[in-house]
Amino acid sequence: MKRQDELGLSEELLQLKNANSAFLGDGVALQSYDHYRSDKRFADENNKIFRRLPHAVAHSGALAGSNAFLRAEYAGVPLLLSRDDQGRAHAFVNACRHRGMQLVEKQAGCVKRFTCPYHAWSYGTDGGFMAAPHFDQGFAELDKAELGLRRLECAERFGFVWVTIDSSDDLQFDEHFAPIADDFEALKIAGLVVVEETVLDIKANWKLLVEGGLEAYHFKVAHRNTIGPFFENNLSTFQVLGEHLRSVLPRTSLAETDRTDAAFRLLDHANILYLMFPNTQFLVQQDHVVWIQANPRAAGRTELRVRTLAPAEATEREDAGAYWEKNHRITCATLAEDFAIAEGIQRSVNAGLDQSMIFGRFESALGVFNDTVKRCLAG
Ligand code: FES
Ligand SMILES: [Fe+2]
Repeated sequence: MKRQDELGLSEELLQLKNANSAFLGDGVALQSYDHYRSDKRFADENNKIFRRLPHAVAHSGALAGSNAFLRAEYAGVPLLLSRDDQGRAHAFVNACRHRGMQLVEKQAGCVKRFTCPYHAWSYGTDGGFMAAPHFDQGFAELDKAELGLRRLECAERFGFVWVTIDSSDDLQFDEHFAPIADDFEALKIAGLVVVEETVLDIKANWKLLVEGGLEAYHFKVAHRNTIGPFFENNLSTFQVLGEHLRSVLPRTSLAETDRTDAAFRLLDHANILYLMFPNTQFLVQQDHVVWIQANPRAAGRTELRVRTLAPAEATEREDAGAYWEKNHRITCATLAEDFAIAEGIQRSVNAGLDQSMIFGRFESALGVFNDTVKRCLAG
């Protein structure tokens, strides 16, 4: 974040505090329960949002070195990421071109070629077809150059490997990320490494998990036994950055700090959360970043990945293992409160009643997020 933005946001938050008001949207908004439980709606979101927008399938560090590979799944598609011997990252559908067998079963590793366990067709780490037993007898009329793995659009940015499953429309990768690129560069996100990871299976719609991070209204209530006491009561603001959002929730320490001090940093006195639309959140903390991904599995089910990212040099300190483990445990304990709430809401939603939830004026970031979802669905 630029210095002037950091100071501007601090000023805005303190003015809001003095006025005893959060940033307010235009009015109350309603959101139908059906948006969180409808299978049709979920299938639409899968096709028009998850498959159409770039997703950070892996941290670049998980695909380090020539011939590294890893397997993943996103939006219902089995994926294979690889790095060729030139160091370039690739993404493919993890399916053999012969009869569709899952090509790679191992989670991760390092190989020079991928060999299908069914009839041994083999492929290079760049996805090109290499060989098949009895090829000339059975497949002579096929062009080997056309038999490579199905390739997906793949780019490395900010230290992550981004994959777009359906890149048939004209969404430009760099344009999509341009509104947050300066902030991410200033935060040196690309230099961070994954130090801890937790994977959870949450019985709630992915949007509920995103929405939980976009308002401060619940902090003093739902987080009263954990982080609530450190934050201002129902005080937050947010900015729309393209399709993404930056949400800022001040701690009580902001009002007590000298902002003219050159050492002043907003992130020491606020939770700064970036929602990379649609479902990736980066929660910026004083000495690390929490990377949260809400990977949709079904209308009422989400795989939640929570990773702590830390500067590489901070992993070399003597107590690094214990320090980051403890940090991650505290993060997960607080987030568990949000996840339990999302599951509680989902149970209400699943009851099948024709009802809507209500977003108050200080919850307007939720309305903005849902408007973006609706815009994507409308095409
Ligand atoms: S399905 Fe892969 S070699 Fe036959
Ligand atoms: Fe929360």
